[in-house]
Amino acid sequence: MIMRRSAPLLLSLALCMLMSAPTRAAEPSPGEQAIDYRHSLYDVLAWNFMPLTKMAKGETPYDKERFATLAHRVAYLAPLLSEAFPTGSFIPKKTDAKAIIWEQRAEFDGLLTTLATRSATLAEVSKSGDLAKIRPALKATGEVCKECHKKFKED
Ligand code: HEC
Repeated sequence: MIMRRSAPLLLSLALCMLMSAPTRAAEPSPGEQAIDYRHSLYDVLAWNFMPLTKMAKGETPYDKERFATLAHRVAYLAPLLSEAFPTGSFIPKKTDAKAIIWEQRAEFDGLLTTLATRSATLAEVSKSGDLAKIRPALKATGEVCKECHKKFKED
């Protein structure tokens, strides 16, 4: 009698544990991890990019060494973004990335490549300390941020 009653009980306990396993898991999914990763990358990118704009506009004093260091970091970070948008990382409410990224992948990747090449040019030009060359290179880099956000990022 005890055996007959405890067997279904054990079975239901086992089922409960199996079914509750996914909800107990605190580990983010691969898609969520990719979203966290790209948010971090963009935050670091913006942290380094924004002071460049301020210096170029004269809002803060232009410091040749500092500018070149920040520009170099932007150029280093830009190519890392190509890994940050894997399939499965479109999760509504968790990301501001639009679903069309994964439908128009070639155009999106093209913009990422443009960001990488333009920021590499900016890093190179910034070594000269010549603002007449630096400003257009900075403008060209900033335009890619805007163009991509306009099409592929929620406001
Ligand atoms: C090829 C497209 C593309 C380019 C180029 C691009 N971004 Fe973005 N950016 C995005 C997308 C898409 C998101 C939304 C990411 C998400 O929420 O998952 C984003 C998000 C961000 C965020 C918000 C990050 C967060 O924590 O929510 C910042 C800041 C940012 N971008 C800055 C920049 C800057 C600065 C540049 C240029 C130097 C740039 N981006 C270039 C597509 C781009």
